[in-house]
Amino acid sequence: MHRSALVALSTLAVAYAQQVGTQTAEVHPPLTWQTCTAPGSCTTNNGKVVLDANWRWLHTTDGYTNCYTGNTWDASLCPDAETCAANCALDGADYTGTYGVTATGSSLKLNFVTNGANKNVGSRLYLMDTDTSYHMFKPLNQEFTFDVDVSTLPCGLNGALYFSEMDADGGMARFPTNKAGAKYGTGYCDSQCPRDLKFINGMANVEGWTPDSNSANSGTGNMGSCCSEMDVWEANSMDAAYTPHPCSTDGQTECTDDQCTGGTTGLCDPAGCDFNSFRMGDETFYGSGLTVDTTQPFTVVTQFLTSDNTTSGTLSEIRRLYVQNGQVIQNSKTSVAGLDAYDSITDDFCSAQKTAFGDDNLFAAQGGLQQMGASFAKGVVLVLSIWDDYAANMLWLDSDYPTDADASSPGVHRGNCATTSGVPADVESSAANAYVTYSNIKVGPIGSTFTSS
Ligand SMILES: *[C@@H]1O[C@H](CO)[C@@H](O)[C@H](O)[C@H]1NC(C)=O
Repeated sequence: MHRSALVALSTLAVAYAQQVGTQTAEVHPPLTWQTCTAPGSCTTNNGKVVLDANWRWLHTTDGYTNCYTGNTWDASLCPDAETCAANCALDGADYTGTYGVTATGSSLKLNFVTNGANKNVGSRLYLMDTDTSYHMFKPLNQEFTFDVDVSTLPCGLNGALYFSEMDADGGMARFPTNKAGAKYGTGYCDSQCPRDLKFINGMANVEGWTPDSNSANSGTGNMGSCCSEMDVWEANSMDAAYTPHPCSTDGQTECTDDQCTGGTTGLCDPAGCDFNSFRMGDETFYGSGLTVDTTQPFTVVTQFLTSDNTTSGTLSEIRRLYVQNGQVIQNSKTSVAGLDAYDSITDDFCSAQKTAFGDDNLFAAQGGLQQMGASFAKGVVLVLSIWDDYAANMLWLDSDYPTDADASSPGVHRGNCATTSGVPADVESSAANAYVTYSNIKVGPIGSTFTSS
């Protein structure tokens, strides 16, 4: 970082950072959610959601010339990270018209493809307390519950609800060149250390930017943005997984080169320790007309247990329940050669699963559940999204993966989707009208957020 250059620039121009545009007023859609103390005893919080910065129009601070068009930066406005941050502003979002995002009461609907002035694919939003700060959840010894409708999500799509250890203000305090902050959805990070973000730590990711060969809108730069991530829910109508992904970092951390990838040089566990009922051997538990029937909405309950049953304890187990039509459905049990009948995520489960599937246990190497829990203790941001997968066609969730492995070897067969499914160009056309709805978000002590009839 060459902050001295930035300081010099500031004497020449009033505006000198990742800026805010004023073409569209930024109005955060309101979304209510609840804090519970006992079943049926909950109070309502008036939250809001904000669209991630990467989806927003990025234009000159003094006009409306694009800084980024398609998947390419404007070379004169963005010759380097600092100049680009000085020249370019993020604008407000037309949530429904441009991005297909609609909030109603406690319900948030995210459309997959929206054909406004431009074609928009997917979205990623964060739950806020105020117009300038994300809500920070502390899930230790807590239960987190929501309703979901995945009925229109085919192979290749992912309606994902998860926690990332982002800064509450989107990074504004730590990175003063970021003038947009949480109000404009900045500061994203996750355990894949994404390098497709246009801004990281208040700097444009222009150095090394390479447009994606298969995407008209995205590319990757030299910088990535890492942090611990808890995938509470990654699902379509065929498959669902929940997956802790610890990082060795403390909060959102910029990476470069080998630090951004998995493996021994990486800062994170990008594969995570997943519990996908189908992959774990119960192929008739989750799907159309199955025990959890994905043709109808249902409730997803996730319990973050600690070793001493306190909110300051060590994360020891992540349990899952479903509720559908008034019936509580216990999680499926693993049925895999060499594995006991686990129905939750513990460090023992992760170790046994990695051994049975012949995978490296990077989860343990990055600190396992204890490190995931350390992230929860600091506070994590709720992310709500819908996406398709330009890297791996979502086959890691719903098909045979890796595709060159023998589908009969343990852990490879993850769902009934074809290995040819999930190609973004295909699903963006065939499933353009797909959507996910998240509603009735509740948090509270174990056992407080759901009832059965
Ligand atoms: C924590 O709670 C569980 C379930 O109620 C109980 O079985 C366990 O003994 C408790 N552990 C401690 C350390 O109190």
